[in-house]
Amino acid sequence: MSNDFIIKAENLHKLYSLNKQRTFKEFLPALFSGAETKYSFHALNGINFEIKKGESLAILGRNGSGKSTLLKIIAGVTKPSDGKITVNGKVFPLIELGAGFHPELTGKENVYLNGSILGIKEKEMDKLYNQIVSFAELEQFMHEPVKHYSSGMYMRLAFAVAVAKIPNILLVDEILAVGDLRFQKKCLSRIKEFQNQGTTLIIVSHSRKTIEDYCQKGLLINNGNQLYFGEVKKALEKYAQI
Ligand SMILES: Nc1ncnc2c1ncn2[C@@H]1O[C@H](COP(=O)(O)OP(=O)(O)OP(=O)(O)O)[C@@H](O)[C@H]1O
Ligand SMILES: [Mg+2]
Repeated sequence: MSNDFIIKAENLHKLYSLNKQRTFKEFLPALFSGAETKYSFHALNGINFEIKKGESLAILGRNGSGKSTLLKIIAGVTKPSDGKITVNGKVFPLIELGAGFHPELTGKENVYLNGSILGIKEKEMDKLYNQIVSFAELEQFMHEPVKHYSSGMYMRLAFAVAVAKIPNILLVDEILAVGDLRFQKKCLSRIKEFQNQGTTLIIVSHSRKTIEDYCQKGLLINNGNQLYFGEVKKALEKYAQI
């Protein structure tokens, strides 16, 4: 098997179990008989792609098509129901930003906590800390519990921790839309720096410009089905047609 890929997805499927919609008439008998009230829903239905070193991928598709589900599988947050994902490198997921933050802890405490989740030890964090705070521009707020932060401040701190070190593989799920315009620009230029130094990006974005600027490959998903994988320009064209 060739080993020059960074990420390889082979026939990925993801099934979610959902509650069936019932009328009240159906509800009571089901309650007593214990009849099945769930059904399976295919959030991903046979996804295949391969990303090589030096390439970046845009995942395209309408709302609910399975993009975030795929990112979560790549990040290892959730497992595929079927198929195989192989990742050569450490993944830094910029998804559900700040999910690891604890609202009662201060900004500073959360930086250390979040860092340790990302594999940054305390000694190393001591060295990175000032750089993180200055990137987030939250110097005056580091001793406040993060529950007092605005959502933009929260996101800036989480982003700053996640990009404190050059990541191998960076997953970005629409988060760039959260900060204000100036901060978005700053995030994008940081991401460009990483890319120039060899980071593989996997981006979910609805901005054509971001996709064209950052990605060579595109994966188009519709209702969990893969419609196209290949050159990003072609993927964007096909996306415009559905
Ligand atoms: N934990 C879950 N349990 C049940 N269904 C889920 C779960 N997570 C996602 N889904 C369903 O899977 C489908 C794909 O969701 P997903 O979040 O991957 O879409 P998306 O392409 O990221 O959409 P968006 O553009 O709105 O962010 C949706 O129909 C969603 O309702
Ligand atoms: Mg999503």
